[in-house]
Amino acid sequence: MMEAFLLDVTAAERDFYGERLIFLEGIIKEFLSCMEMIRRYQAGTGRRDPVSSVQARIKSAASMKQKLARAGPPVTADSALREVRDAAGVRLICPFIQDIYQTAALIRDIPGVQVVAEKDYIHAPKPNGYRSYHMVLTMPLRFLKEQPEPGIQLEVQLRTIAMDCWASIEHQLKYKRDIPNQRL
Ligand code: GTP
Ligand code: MG
Repeated sequence: MMEAFLLDVTAAERDFYGERLIFLEGIIKEFLSCMEMIRRYQAGTGRRDPVSSVQARIKSAASMKQKLARAGPPVTADSALREVRDAAGVRLICPFIQDIYQTAALIRDIPGVQVVAEKDYIHAPKPNGYRSYHMVLTMPLRFLKEQPEPGIQLEVQLRTIAMDCWASIEHQLKYKRDIPNQRL
């Protein structure tokens, strides 16, 4: 039997992303399978696994449509993959800040990975206090004979548990503020 579907997608995502959904799923799986072996290799060669937990998601159709509508490009799957860098996203939670930089270096060294952008919100937090290390990368999809042009992008967010707690609370507060008559 085939492995269970890893990512939580519904009919809405299948409808919106169409045939491109498999590219998003593909880059997440390629990346996670590399990460898993990197972590095991680190742990098995006298070092320490620098990652404590992993999350992955394909951006929901609803939030992708909102983001495209706000940003301006046509609300299509093609713009979603070309214009938005976090259609596919992975979050890596690391025990210590030094693990974040070590993991970022290990990711840069994965054969075929091209880093499109990096943002260090740890050394330079956002004005609201948000901290995290962001990388946008592309990597080859081995199941495809011809790679999509332009490449499929993956946003990787590296954080400690404390940074992740802060970000998820801030995200909830921001969200709840938009709902009238909600008590925080
Ligand atoms: P978007 O914010 O995604 O439109 O892209 P950007 O070009 O501004 O990228 P950036 O690296 O600033 O943010 C990318 C992602 O990081 C967001 O989609 C969020 O998941 C996360 N993020 C950035 N800023 C914040 C923040 O202030 N609070 C929280 N909770 N998450 C944030
Ligand atoms: Mg932003």
